[in-house]
Amino acid sequence: MPTNAAARALDWAMDKSLVLGYTRLGPRLRRSWWPADPRPACLAGRHVLVTGASGGLGLAAAQQIAALGATVHLLGRKAERLESARTELLAAEPSARVEIAPCDLSDLDAVRGFCADFSARVPELHALVHNAGVLPPERRTTAQGHELTLATHVLGPHLMTALLADNLRGGRVVVVSSGGAYGQKLPVDDLEYTQGDYSGVTAYARTKRMQLVITEQWADRLRGRVSVHSMHPGWADTPGVTESLPGFNKVMGPLLRSPAEGADTVTWLVATDDPIGTGGFWHDRSRRPTHYAPIGVETASQRQRFWEFVVAATGEPLA
Ligand SMILES: NC(=O)c1ccc[n+]([C@@H]2O[C@H](COP(=O)([O-])OP(=O)(O)OC[C@H]3O[C@@H](n4cnc5c(N)ncnc54)[C@H](OP(=O)(O)O)[C@@H]3O)[C@@H](O)[C@H]2O)c1
Repeated sequence: MPTNAAARALDWAMDKSLVLGYTRLGPRLRRSWWPADPRPACLAGRHVLVTGASGGLGLAAAQQIAALGATVHLLGRKAERLESARTELLAAEPSARVEIAPCDLSDLDAVRGFCADFSARVPELHALVHNAGVLPPERRTTAQGHELTLATHVLGPHLMTALLADNLRGGRVVVVSSGGAYGQKLPVDDLEYTQGDYSGVTAYARTKRMQLVITEQWADRLRGRVSVHSMHPGWADTPGVTESLPGFNKVMGPLLRSPAEGADTVTWLVATDDPIGTGGFWHDRSRRPTHYAPIGVETASQRQRFWEFVVAATGEPLA
């Protein structure tokens, strides 16, 4: 948070107004008081795995992280898209070290296979960025029969975090959630979204709420081993927003952040030397509340039921 009282009040008002805080105005104003940039080359010799890095925020984050010296591993479903992303990244950062990592995160068997190979090849991983995201137009299920947003945003990331936890010792996990989480409660009675009319926007926002909860649960279980944080990027102009929310993109177009502005806090969380602890939810380099009001805050027993569901679905207790 800014130390100056006036800046603190402005920052709070921007956050609550959404339009001021979430659009490109957010970083432009907050830049004057937010914490220092990571040191140049601070990630030299480190490895960082970014999911959903074939475009949008993931590719922007990967480029920023590579510019700080890390070898970046770009994960996405399609090898051709990842090759194009690597070419684009290298055009901007010719000395970057970039590997591609094809894997469908929503397929738990594919995640197991990928992690077995990756953990042997990259024994020390500085950071894992869970950025991959989807907003499907209708209810879809995965190879294991899970609802697609649940599998992509929660189950696949949980399995990957558990399987790479030893490689991440002393490192960081960053979860790219969404301000949409503020509008949803943890849906413990219907985590697979089988009841009522399905809405992709609701499924997306519910699973973004789940990401905030599971970030805290991972942070508790990995305390002293891996630091874990979630963040939201505001509203950024990406292929995902253009395809899934064309109306929003049309209205907000000129006000949307660039992918680099949206990705800034991801890179900062991966690279900063500041004492940021673990288990935080961040936006524009400041810690934020996970709920705007005390109503709808999940209880300990709801959180426990959610955790037990995730462990049963993935077979990984993250001991
Ligand atoms: N843009 C915004 O304004 C905004 C706002 C709030 C939160 N976010 C969050 O930011 C993240 C990135 O969003 P974006 O706007 O950059 O989205 P995007 O342009 O749609 O990019 C999504 C990325 O996720 C990958 N992906 C999707 N499903 C995958 C799967 N099953 N396995 C592996 N990779 C998968 C896609 O790659 P392939 O299709 O090639 O597999 C792509 O690289 C998402 O988590 C989103 O919820 C974005």
